[in-house]
Amino acid sequence: MEQWNNGRRFEGKVAIVTGAGGALGGAVARALGAEGAKVAIGYRSSADAAAETLAAIEAAGGTGHASRLEVTDRASVDAFVAATLERHGRLDVLVNAAGRIDPADAVRFADSDEEAFAKLLDVDLIGTFRVCQAAVPHLREDGGGAIVNFSGSYGNGTNQENVVNSVAVTYSAAKGGVRAFTSALARDLAPDIRVNAVAPGPIAANWEGDWGIPKEHVDEALAMTPLGRMGMPEEIAETVLYLASDGGAYTTGQVLEVSGGWILDG
Ligand SMILES: NC(=O)c1ccc[n+]([C@@H]2O[C@H](COP(=O)([O-])OP(=O)(O)OC[C@H]3O[C@@H](n4cnc5c(N)ncnc54)[C@H](OP(=O)(O)O)[C@@H]3O)[C@@H](O)[C@H]2O)c1
Repeated sequence: MEQWNNGRRFEGKVAIVTGAGGALGGAVARALGAEGAKVAIGYRSSADAAAETLAAIEAAGGTGHASRLEVTDRASVDAFVAATLERHGRLDVLVNAAGRIDPADAVRFADSDEEAFAKLLDVDLIGTFRVCQAAVPHLREDGGGAIVNFSGSYGNGTNQENVVNSVAVTYSAAKGGVRAFTSALARDLAPDIRVNAVAPGPIAANWEGDWGIPKEHVDEALAMTPLGRMGMPEEIAETVLYLASDGGAYTTGQVLEVSGGWILDG
């Protein structure tokens, strides 16, 4: 029986993490760094958080670099990928954690705005597409590797005012797009490159703070969550590492829900 997880699953490998100035991307970057990957930390505006993540990786004996990455801009994406190759010499893992978190995408259908929806798709869906397209030739050149995208749990609530239960139509459509993109790309790139996604449920990140979601809506979502608590960013990171690692070598085209059982009946 092969022993896949020696705690250094990404030794000698190079990983790009987009949205790594954010809660989940940051946790993924730190976890990859702790297991030996050289991590290219892409941030848009969160330079301080990205620097903290790089410092945490270095303090744990790892290495990487942090640089600005705007996933809606092809030139920025190409430059980020090229700089990663130049600095670290290869590419093995791509994690697309950049996602637009905007109040305009957390409203009922009647209040949805076409322009905001286009912006959301440009980050979550087309942004993921752009970074994949820039990274794939290098992943292939270096022997394959793995892509992990970020979808989301959605559509399992009945309280139409509660966006935690993800009745938000545009957000659900964007994350559904990431699901379909992931499964189609997995077929397109097989057998060289594996493509999977994680679909986080309610993760202890920014709900009541940055996102201004009322506590009663969070509580309502947790009451529908069999495990009865929010997930931790580290639990998402662990799932991403599994999907990106050799232990996940027979897994492709999958969207793994990490949601405390939130959608068991959905
Ligand atoms: N937290 C949850 O409970 C949850 C649940 C389901 C799905 N998700 C998904 O998980 C992913 C990570 O979310 P999170 O919770 O970590 O949220 P977050 O802390 O807001 O992180 C998202 C990051 O995406 C980056 N970003 C946004 N627009 C970008 C752009 N145009 N170009 C490059 N980067 C951009 C932001 O960068 P800057 O900060 O540098 O501007 C931000 O740090 C997202 O796709 C989100 O939809 C999260």
